[in-house]
Amino acid sequence: MNINQLIQLKTENKKLSMLTCYDYTSAKIINQSNVDMILVGDSAAMVMHGHTSTLPIDIETMALHVAAVVRGAPDKFIVADLPFMSYRKSLSDNMIAVETLMKVGAHAVKLEGLNGNEELIRHIVDSGVPVMGHLGLTPQSVNTLGGYRVQGKEYKTKIKIITDAKKLQEVGCFSVVLECLPSTLAKQITKALEIITIGIGAGNDTDGQVLVIQDMLGMSSDFKPKFVRRYLDAEQLFLKAFNAYDAEVKSAEFPNQQESYS
Ligand code: KIV
Repeated sequence: MNINQLIQLKTENKKLSMLTCYDYTSAKIINQSNVDMILVGDSAAMVMHGHTSTLPIDIETMALHVAAVVRGAPDKFIVADLPFMSYRKSLSDNMIAVETLMKVGAHAVKLEGLNGNEELIRHIVDSGVPVMGHLGLTPQSVNTLGGYRVQGKEYKTKIKIITDAKKLQEVGCFSVVLECLPSTLAKQITKALEIITIGIGAGNDTDGQVLVIQDMLGMSSDFKPKFVRRYLDAEQLFLKAFNAYDAEVKSAEFPNQQESYS
């Protein structure tokens, strides 16, 4: 999958699927699936490293995750998140962050918000790197937003999000993630834009959807926002397997003769 094929799918009114992924083994499985795109999200900070927000992850850690996913999923279009503050410094420092992710094999970078990023986005795009924007609930701004909640409910914020989406298109983004928006707003933005919209908690009228892999696999029973659909109860399946292993080790049923060397 490449950027032209993705754009072609949008032109044909076909929906696009995207999943987050952070490791080689999961990437290998996604590579065998029909999923169109992978996002190596900074959500890795939370789901892979146990932080309470996406803020602590740095560019070096993101690059390790991206490199592992690239090795596992050579056939997928891979977008890498620029982590918190890595693109809010000098132009040369910002470009070093972009370069770090692209040199380990990402096909595009994603960054959150518009304000103050316009020139940088133009520069990244002019340097041959596709950029995905991210509007609505932008988790790197959780401290400004006052929590993880639906955005664009009030008239003023709604207008700002629409204006920002148009501006992201104007400065060269090929796509934009719309996170936690009322469906009607996400629909309005999708209609107003030519670029690909990818929704998460933004209803069914965006061009595509993204979910965090741990959420859709049901790996954590204590986290189930309204917009997540669980396609597996992995937590229970894992627990069952771990306890079966434990029981068979303790009863000396594992390993048996076939599982041992003579
Ligand atoms: O980091 C991430 O997983 C994301 C998605 C929620 C869009 O940015």
